[in-house]
Amino acid sequence: MIRYETDADGILLLTIDHADKLNALSAEVMQALDDAFARAETDDAVKAIVLTGAGEKAFVAGADIGQFTSLDAQTGEAFALRGQAVFGRIERMPKVVIAAVNGFALGGGCELALACHLRIASENAVFGQPEVNLGLIPGYGGTQRLPKVVGRGAALEMILTGDRVSAQRAYEIGLVNRVVPREALLDEAHRMAKTIASKAPLAVAYALRATLAADLPQAAGMAHEAALFGLSTATEDLKEGASAFLEKRPAVFKGR
Ligand code: COA
Repeated sequence: MIRYETDADGILLLTIDHADKLNALSAEVMQALDDAFARAETDDAVKAIVLTGAGEKAFVAGADIGQFTSLDAQTGEAFALRGQAVFGRIERMPKVVIAAVNGFALGGGCELALACHLRIASENAVFGQPEVNLGLIPGYGGTQRLPKVVGRGAALEMILTGDRVSAQRAYEIGLVNRVVPREALLDEAHRMAKTIASKAPLAVAYALRATLAADLPQAAGMAHEAALFGLSTATEDLKEGASAFLEKRPAVFKGR
């Protein structure tokens, strides 16, 4: 269900492969996704992660709609909490996670892209939060993350109308970092992942953690930033990075 392929650069390509259902997030796919990220977190061979969907049409066409008809208030809440936990693990990953959005990213698929740290879309990508068409609201973090990424107005337009958003429009509202031709998508994601993987790993991990604290009241976020800045100054990699700059040579980081 999830292909796990690490290359010589330490870039892990995770491919959601449930292509006959446009990579819809069945319970099995969600479990496989959670297992893959748990493995990637502690896999020393992995320096950065690219997440994409199998096939030509979809990144992920949403949660598995077939599961919705049997839910009630209690099981529905548990369903949302489970999805939030899986996506929360992705958001909290200490290694960068880049969504390479290769087609439809609807409902849970759009929310999955939002849980990733960066998003690159192919020109044929289509985003949307169509839950209102089904009598639902987004439940895997969309009502919280989408307004933070694109602002409340643009988020509510997507969530209340259910309208689809093109890759170009997604770029204009800040939903994706860049848009590239379909054939260039994985190369571009790999290039960005490799750039980030070449930086000091602890600095990358601390930056990811510090920006999560932007959700806190500002004074608490500032204190968190200062503490993580302090931790970064205590690393061997800082000494190496600063020395390399002064000696006009490339730094060799060790993640310590
Ligand atoms: N859950 C379950 N199955 C899904 C699915 C989903 N979210 N999205 C697509 N599928 C299945 C279809 O039922 C179909 O299965 P079948 O071949 O057994 O009939 C298969 O994937 C292919 O989808 P299909 O609708 O035939 O492709 P299409 O190219 O005509 O349309 C979409 C593509 C994405 C526009 C359309 O599939 C769609 O609207 N999907 C639901 C999107 C959605 O509302 N997501 C949010 C859920 S909260």
